[in-house]
Amino acid sequence: MEPDRPTAFRFEGRAQAADAGETLLQHLSRRGLPILQRSIRYHRPRAPLCGIGHCTSCLVRVNGQPNVRACRYVPSPADSVTLSNGWPSTRYDLMGLLDLVFPRGLDTLHGFRRPAWATPWYQRVVRRLAGYGPIAPDSPPTVPSPVPAVELDTLVLGAGPAGRQACTRLQEAGRAVAILDRGPIPAPPPGVTLFPRTTAVFLPPPRSGAGRPFEMVTLEEPDHGRLVRATTVIAATGAYDASLLFAGNDRPGVMTAEAALAMAPGDRSPPFRRALLVGGGARAAEMLDRFGVHTEAVVAPGAISPEVTRRASELSIPLYPRTLVIEATGRSRIRRVRLRARGGGAEFSVSVDAVVLAHRRLPHNQLLFQSGAQMQWRGTAGGYFPVLGPGSQTSVPGLYAVGEVAGFADGVAAEASAFAAADAILGRSVPPPVERAPDGPHELEGYYRELLTIPTGWQKQVLCPCEDVLVREVREAVAHGYRGLEVIKRYTGLGTGLCQGRYCLPDGLLLLSILEGRPPPEVGYIRQRPPVIPTPLGALAGLPVPASEGG
Ligand code: FES
Repeated sequence: MEPDRPTAFRFEGRAQAADAGETLLQHLSRRGLPILQRSIRYHRPRAPLCGIGHCTSCLVRVNGQPNVRACRYVPSPADSVTLSNGWPSTRYDLMGLLDLVFPRGLDTLHGFRRPAWATPWYQRVVRRLAGYGPIAPDSPPTVPSPVPAVELDTLVLGAGPAGRQACTRLQEAGRAVAILDRGPIPAPPPGVTLFPRTTAVFLPPPRSGAGRPFEMVTLEEPDHGRLVRATTVIAATGAYDASLLFAGNDRPGVMTAEAALAMAPGDRSPPFRRALLVGGGARAAEMLDRFGVHTEAVVAPGAISPEVTRRASELSIPLYPRTLVIEATGRSRIRRVRLRARGGGAEFSVSVDAVVLAHRRLPHNQLLFQSGAQMQWRGTAGGYFPVLGPGSQTSVPGLYAVGEVAGFADGVAAEASAFAAADAILGRSVPPPVERAPDGPHELEGYYRELLTIPTGWQKQVLCPCEDVLVREVREAVAHGYRGLEVIKRYTGLGTGLCQGRYCLPDGLLLLSILEGRPPPEVGYIRQRPPVIPTPLGALAGLPVPASEGG
């Protein structure tokens, strides 16, 4: 068979040849950490943070279309890729001089309300200055072709191990089942209908009395929408690596474990030489297995597990349990990280060119919130999880949650939850719900309380990298009397960026809990609005009107 040929395309006018199937980010990372973006408002250089297509740190323009994520985009022959913003480049951005004039950032949300006729003009200018980049060129209007609704018995959302196990169990019992996933579907269960590269972007509460009560909208990227009706739904949407607050936490080189893996597929070297690994649990152990020779030190907000200790000592890597990450310094790439033992210990620093975050996994729970499922704050895990009955059933009849999104991180427990959901759908007897360990505060609550007492000087602690919202702004909002996550969101813009709050809201919740002096569940949460990933309006144009809307 002929080997896959490289793809020839252009990046910033220069000819490139990417391996077949390689994402743009993987291609560019071969030559080091790419800086693809300047942040809006503060023009801060940004390199990939998440690696899974949710943050705003790798947006490029492809053939003139903005907001294409380099970590998900696979170049096609003859594509022309350019950077979105930054002038003359993302590495040296003269627009950053504006920050000397507007040290608190350009106000793209509130400014210039009067006279009303000038507001659109002002908005256009200020958004360009802030770094949003030009909008997409107009394309000729088209009449959308009608797209029929897809009717299904059971739809599984997510093709990780738990989703596939539930699927296989149902299919073996003769049930018609389909599975979707935002990426390709590895090792698909035989006989199952597949929707690869597809995301459920809206899962409203079910219609009572309907034959197929779940009526959801899915998006096959880039722009193929579908209306899907299903009798039962299993949410197996998994979890992701969270961000962490410290001064300079958005500097190029700070990345989640998922981003490190995305930039170094297989056994390829990562785009860093010596990293500080943050985390003391199973995820950190995984990262040591993969990037041990590139790890300078391991630091954790709390204790470090024996598993991590054993691996690190085999590689003579120093360990710093119960230690604060105070600050990362270095302009276009981090050079040094300042640390301090918790409880008022002495400060010290390590020279590194990356910080890999592997300290906390959070559930992709947006669809569960949308569906109206009852959610519960679990302090020890630091996130909201669905309240489950027997058979992994949520409080919404016909909606099940399995695997990491349901709080089962361990493989055995995740498999048990998947089989329980499948058995419940098949009408078999199911075990009672798993007894949870007693809850308590998350270790980051005390950690952040301590961190907030340390002055950050001129350095910025970025809470919301998408919208450049700083910790300082949230503190000021609280000092002005604003209370609760939803109110703070509306006032500061926190959680309104492309990641839909995945990276800022969990830390924002802990931060507000400390500042307001009340537990996280009392701080509340935001109203989770659709879509869960950016969806072009054209993808929705040909869909049937949902029955719940009178169609
Ligand atoms: S690194 Fe691509 S979206 Fe986050």
